[in-house]
This record gives sequence, structure tokens and C-alpha cells, in this order.
Amino acid sequence: MQIKFYNSENQVPMEMHKVRVVQKLHLLPVEERLAKIKEAGNNTFLLQNRDVFMDMLTDSGVNAMSDNQVAAMGIADDSYAGSETCNRLIDAIEEVFGVRHFLPAHQGRACENILAETFVKPGQFVLMNFHFTTTKAHITRMGGSVIELVGAEGLVTDSQHPFKGNFDIERTKQIIKELGAKNIAFVRIEAGTNLIGGQPVSLENMLEVAKICKENGIMSILDASLLQDNLYFMKMREEMCKNMSIKDIMHKLAGVMDIVYFSARKLGFARGGAIISHNEDYILRMKEYIPLYEGFLTYGGMEVRSMEAMAVGLRETLDMEYISQGPLFIEYMIKELDKAGVPVVKPAGGLGAHINAREILPHIPQSQYPAAALATALYIAGGVRGMERGTLSEQRNPDGTERFADMELVRLAVPRRVFTLSQLKYCIDRVKWVYDNRELIGGLRWEDEPRVLRFFFGRLQPIGDWQERLAEKFRADFGDSL
Ligand SMILES: Cc1ncc(COP(=O)(O)O)c(C=O)c1O
Repeated sequence: MQIKFYNSENQVPMEMHKVRVVQKLHLLPVEERLAKIKEAGNNTFLLQNRDVFMDMLTDSGVNAMSDNQVAAMGIADDSYAGSETCNRLIDAIEEVFGVRHFLPAHQGRACENILAETFVKPGQFVLMNFHFTTTKAHITRMGGSVIELVGAEGLVTDSQHPFKGNFDIERTKQIIKELGAKNIAFVRIEAGTNLIGGQPVSLENMLEVAKICKENGIMSILDASLLQDNLYFMKMREEMCKNMSIKDIMHKLAGVMDIVYFSARKLGFARGGAIISHNEDYILRMKEYIPLYEGFLTYGGMEVRSMEAMAVGLRETLDMEYISQGPLFIEYMIKELDKAGVPVVKPAGGLGAHINAREILPHIPQSQYPAAALATALYIAGGVRGMERGTLSEQRNPDGTERFADMELVRLAVPRRVFTLSQLKYCIDRVKWVYDNRELIGGLRWEDEPRVLRFFFGRLQPIGDWQERLAEKFRADFGDSL
């Protein structure tokens, strides 16, 4: 699959596509970048895209579309009910997952809202390998609690384990025994485990968890939002997948799980969301919420053109040349950053490169949000917009005390088919400069802290004048360069 270079020293990952539509980028001078991050309350979510050079905030809804996706958008059938677009999407879902029962939703968290409303009762538990921010917020809003069961290796940043998102099977069995099946709303398996560094779950582990669920009469739900990268890792790292096609793996998974849902902003290079199940009863129980919260059953809050793009994008997910590009670029970044001594989550996962802020900034206590501080430093140094994935992205405990995250990471997402290798090299260069100047970086404190999902729109201030000193050092080191 990898193209070998004649001179092996020149070996780099190759783009198996070419660019035919471009978007101009802007790189502001460092003094302006400093002003912009302050205007944005030191929250990278609040930066304007026109002030960002490399937008590595997320892979959500920002993956590049293929020519076939764009072409398909032109035939979208924009009727409120019974649209041909919906029929085409159902056909694609059946081809890709082997399941025909489908409920549409406007994005991944909308699926989570419907799942939580339908299945979570106050006092119940939801077991999962690891939480995701929006998932947990919906479950706790319904009075449920989340229990995380990722194996110990999942939280070791520097590891060789090929499937760090795996459930600890023994603990899972134990917890089910302790809590009792009736107190467990469902078990959620998150492919490409986001908050621990886009780390995959093996097919074997997923099948084992589904089996345990079946034996105990508990519903199994696969969050397939990040399944695309996970599929690549299954094919590359797992013996039992060697002779399976991507489609075989998808069908196997959708066959054993009670429910599969996903954000099509990630899976399928499009926008939107979907819940699928071979169990008609589950679909019936969720169905009434779709017109209530999302839209009629044939569009569910999605724009029909996005549904056409999703149908084509899901089929593209079966193509190793498409789904390998993200993981190969991320692997390259991790290798280069590691060579430069920058602590990163290893092995390389999907979604993006994850930088270990806790190790880089041991002088900043978790109460001063080291990962958020590092994200601001990267913007100042390179116009690179990453995302804090640490304590700031957590919810406070019910008593208002801070809940310190297991990992303090800055995620530099690599949206699929978007960046060129020279852009990635630039990013790696700026991360290295920030790392070499890490002792200049200080902490952050709240100026305005929202009660729910605070990382999205909270505003912070730097503690002291460290950002000014960092910008001055940049100017001294780089002269008149942008
Ligand atoms: C694993 C996972 N689940 C659910 C979601 C929520 O999807 P959306 O952003 O479309 O609401 C995300 C988004 O990042 C995700 O990574």
C-alpha cells in the first residue's frame, strides 16, 4: 500500500489524490497573533478562521470532499418527506454496514441526545472504554453516570500497545457483576478513542465486549464516529483482520452491536449524523424523538446535499487508499516530533497528533490548564490552531471542585485530504520551537467560565506576561519572518 521511494532516505507518506479547489491561507505576524489570541479569551475555539494559518482544531466537518461527493450534491432531492436522497443514503448504509434501519440526526451529539433520552434513566450507569465530552454531557443530563473501562495501557502516553482504546475485559465483567445488569443503561464502545489520543480498539476486543453484553442482556452501542481510522489500524495491526475486507469488518461490527451511531462530520467526509440498528424495536423507541428534535424522518435536521455527500463518503470509507492518508500523515508527524524530543502520545493513533502538555510543562499545575496554555503558545508561535484535551475539557464535579484529567493533551487534528506535507513540516517546526522555549510558558485562569461544556466558549487570561515574552522571543529568533 505504501509507495516505496528509490532513495529510502527520502521516504515520506504520499497523498493518493490531487487538489483541484484551493482556499487561500493567511499567516499574521506574531504580534498580531498575540493580539488575536487575547481577543479570543485564550480559547482557540473563539479564534476567527481568517486569523488562523493551519486549522488543526478538529477533523469534524472539515475533511476535504472528493470530486464524486461534490458531484453527488448536485442531484440532491430537496423534498421534505420521502426524498430520493434519503433512499440513496439508506442504500449506501446498507452496502457499507449491512443494516437498513436508519434514523437521521443533524450530527453526532444529536444521536447521543436521542440515545440518552431513550435509554438512560436517572441513577443508571453507562459503561464505556472512555468518555467523550458531548456523550458524557448528555448522559449526566439524564441523571446517569459514566464509568470508564479502558485498559491501564490506554492512559500510558508513551506506549507500544497497538490498541490502547481496548476495554479491560476482566474489569468490565467485574463491574457488570457489581452493578447488576438492570442498573446499566448500555455499554458504549468508542472506536478511535478520541480523548486518549485517537487510539484504536481491536476488532477482537469489540467483539468480546459485545458478547459480554449479550450474555448479560445489556445493550451494546458502537460510537463509529472515528471508525474510519480505527478500521485502518485493524487492517494493519490485527491478525484476524488480515484476510477481511474493510466491508467485512464493518458488516461484522454492525451485525453484533445492538446500535451503531456516528457523526458524519467525521465518518464519511461529510456532515450530519446517523443511528442504525438491525433491531426494529430499538429504532421504534428512538424514532419519535427525530421529528421532535431533528426534523422529519427522511432528513433529520441534515441538509440534503450533505446526505448525498455522506452516501458517497461512506462508500469511500471502504477504500484503503482514502482511509490510510490520515493515519500515515499522523504517523509521520509523531515520528518527526518524537525525533525532535517533543513528548507525544505513542503509538501514533488516528485523528491527529497529541502533544503531552503535562510532560512539557511540569511547572504549570493542572489547575492552571497546561494544555490550554500550550495551545495558545502554538497559535502565537505559528498561527496553528489546536484543541485543548485535558482538564479544561472536563466538567467540574457536582460539588464544583475541579476534575483533573488523566491526560493533559493538545490535539493537532489532521483533517483528511486537507494539508500537504510541507504544511505538516511547518507545523512540526513550530511545535519544536515552542518545545525548546517551554520554560517561558505560564498558566491560565478563568475570566468567564460557562457551566456546561466550558471549553467551547469559556474565556481565560494568562497568569503574568508570559505570552508577551514568548512573542518577543519569537521575533528575536525569526527576525522578519512571519
Ligand atoms: C467519538 C466522538 N463521538 C461523538 C462526537 C460528536 O459528534 P459531533 O461533533 O458531530 O456532534 C465526536 C465529535 O468529535 C466524537 O469524536
